[in-house]
Amino acid sequence: MKVKTKTKNNLGDIIVKDIIIFDTTLRDGEQSPGASLNIDEKLLVARQLEKLGVDVIEAGFPIASEGDFKAVKKIASMMKNTIVCGLARANETDIKRCWDAVKYAKKPRIHTFIATSKVHMEDKLKKTKEEIIEIAVNAVKLAKSLCDDVEFSPEDAGRTNLDYMCDVVRAAIGAGATTINIPDTVGYTEPKEFGDRIKYLFEKVPEAKNVVISVHCHNDLGNAVANSLSAIENGATQVEGCINGIGERAGNAAIEEVVMNLKTRKDYFNVNVNVNTKEIFRTSRLVSNLTGINVQRNKAIVGENAFAHEAGIHQHGVLANKNTYEIMISEDIGWEGENIVIGKHSGRHAIQKILKNEGLDVTKEQLEEITGKIKNLADSEKQIEIGDVIGIGRDVAFKLADSIQYIKLIEYSVTTGNKITPTATVKLEVYGEEKIGSGVGNGPIDAISSAIWSMLDTSLKLEKYNLRAITGGTNALANVSIQLKDIHDKIYGAKSVSEDVISASANALIDAINKALHYSETIHPQKDHFFFD
Ligand code: KIV
Ligand code: ZN
Repeated sequence: MKVKTKTKNNLGDIIVKDIIIFDTTLRDGEQSPGASLNIDEKLLVARQLEKLGVDVIEAGFPIASEGDFKAVKKIASMMKNTIVCGLARANETDIKRCWDAVKYAKKPRIHTFIATSKVHMEDKLKKTKEEIIEIAVNAVKLAKSLCDDVEFSPEDAGRTNLDYMCDVVRAAIGAGATTINIPDTVGYTEPKEFGDRIKYLFEKVPEAKNVVISVHCHNDLGNAVANSLSAIENGATQVEGCINGIGERAGNAAIEEVVMNLKTRKDYFNVNVNVNTKEIFRTSRLVSNLTGINVQRNKAIVGENAFAHEAGIHQHGVLANKNTYEIMISEDIGWEGENIVIGKHSGRHAIQKILKNEGLDVTKEQLEEITGKIKNLADSEKQIEIGDVIGIGRDVAFKLADSIQYIKLIEYSVTTGNKITPTATVKLEVYGEEKIGSGVGNGPIDAISSAIWSMLDTSLKLEKYNLRAITGGTNALANVSIQLKDIHDKIYGAKSVSEDVISASANALIDAINKALHYSETIHPQKDHFFFD
């Protein structure tokens, strides 16, 4: 098949294009239910993305909240080489706010957008085609007056009339946009159809060759990666996506899948990507650990099973020659965990290696604490497995900073049995003041939760409770993840591990409440956003 991303210079040599990798985990990814991150967590992800070597980080939507603004501003000042982009709707307030956050970056970018599909223009924006073009042009001009690097997206381009999409793009390029992003906002298109859209754009708008043509595909029909690759075959030179494919609804194109397609099948695509693939696994696990969104076992590239060969015939083949069943080497994505054995005498080094693999860069003190906890666990005759180390490591590494522990668990007692109603008494410190509450429930976890809620006057609701034993046996570590929802449907998630399921549940619940409180403290500083009188 003819690869269209190859071009020839005037000497007839084939030029291999660079594909720009644009990561929007911290913007589109963070918009997915349950994925919200606090500022410190966003900084950790941004740092890891820079290690991974993505070209652009879309750090947030600065107008959306004070927290988003601060996060974008911090990330902008922190990044050494990466372009830092902020999102802005096509209006003056958004664009100026966005610039105020990204301007601290060595390489800032403003990304402005407006919807161009019939349904969005008529029913959402109530604007005519001409009005939309005028708004887009004014937005790009304003952004350009502030920042050299301006990206423009006709939102829902995948369902936009093709010729009208070309008109909008032509106008945005004329106004100064340096990147034009074609989003399949609702994940509606099919790979060939989407590729043809890009091809048509290049044919109808010759000036598109002078800017970067980007694509941003959602995964509603499971086509996000295939659509992105099809666009590259037709000349797109920037791909947007999120780590682990997280994002609104079914998510965005998974960055690691796009990158590994381009690298593994360089013979087919003939393009370069500057990503350091050895950081892929770590980045994947960091995002999963922080957002609480697990990576599906059989997920391409980063799933636990991606490089496992259980079937005998496969094992035999792989032992004879890895190429029989492996098209990529696990080391290439930085996957090293398998051969580390954790025993009673495992030292800091082995533990640190496992944690590093999970994207957890712990301090010396944290490593000390984690090693101590693992040794205690081993002393209690528990066989330590990698999952235990990760669980404990995550608990220590992501412990909420003291400054945002508005509520602290001081002590609790729970009585339960087959002939009595489970009852709990809990002592909390709430904004520095000690409180005691009690509650009953269907089981001990229900009882301790009601005791905690009894002391807090809040509209937060429990959205999800999940309990998982990390490893086998009756002494397995309990891994609890909790999601709370506020009145604006914003989700706050937290996880905790412990040998004791009640303690893990109470800690996860309190962490999630603290995260919600932190959000209200930083975004809506008046405490009554959803909490207390
Ligand atoms: O999906 C989408 O259309 C977007 C735009 C803001 C680019 O996320
Ligand atoms: Zn999107």
